[in-house]
Amino acid sequence: MSEPLLTVENIHTAYGLSRVLFGISLEVKAGECVCLLGRNGVGKTTTMRSVMGLTPPASGRVVWKGRDIAGRTPHQVARAGIGFVPEDRRIFPELTVWENLDVAARAGGRRGHWTIETVYELFPKLEELRNRQGGFLSGGEQQMLTIARTLMGNPELLLLDEPSEGLAPLVVDMLREKIGTLRDQGLTILLAEQGVEFCLALADRVYVLEKGAVRHSGPAAELRDNKELREQLMAI
Ligand SMILES: Nc1ncnc2c1ncn2[C@@H]1O[C@H](COP(=O)(O)OP(=O)(O)OP(=O)(O)O)[C@@H](O)[C@H]1O
Ligand SMILES: [Mg+2]
Repeated sequence: MSEPLLTVENIHTAYGLSRVLFGISLEVKAGECVCLLGRNGVGKTTTMRSVMGLTPPASGRVVWKGRDIAGRTPHQVARAGIGFVPEDRRIFPELTVWENLDVAARAGGRRGHWTIETVYELFPKLEELRNRQGGFLSGGEQQMLTIARTLMGNPELLLLDEPSEGLAPLVVDMLREKIGTLRDQGLTILLAEQGVEFCLALADRVYVLEKGAVRHSGPAAELRDNKELREQLMAI
């Protein structure tokens, strides 16, 4: 068994006095696509924010490639190789698609496969729209741009927070296919999702969260094959 790339050990995270995560543990190995599955408000985003150092855990450990990264700033975590695609798709609305990507290129991220040219290969639509301002893109186009921008930091692990949220079914299908392409290219992915189908189409392993804790974990295949277990877990 290879060492996990990311290990989250018993983290407790709060926003001020409001406690949200109650001892979440999980791991992601190189090349895996792991899904955090759960409804509204169970703590998926907070788990990702805890890993990134955006909302540091009050206790527990976040170990990246064997090193405890507690106390690092989000910028340092990104430099260490973890890329975060937030659920609110924060692009620059006044800048064009190309300018948004150029800002990412200049952000001094890690060098590697991903450049403006290679993200255009993954998302040809972004090249077509390169002169359009971010604020005039559709939700799906903004999501592509957000993913593209994060890829340009050449992360080893991509955290994708509810990429399908609020998008039309055809756009969701397109995104699922693109994320599948990234997975098949060997990128390690931690995906947060409310949609069981989206999750099971992509994931190797799944953690089902409930009220800030892991309620179930196991291979995605087990949930694909076992309708009863799936319904039992998603009824929560
Ligand atoms: N900035 C904040 N301040 C206070 N409470 C917060 C904050 N952000 C989230 N919470 C609370 O923490 C809990 C977990 O929220 P979180 O965003 O992690 O859930 P989620 O699983 O990502 O949900 P969603 O599917 O809606 O994105 C919720 O009860 C939420 O109200
Ligand atoms: Mg969320």
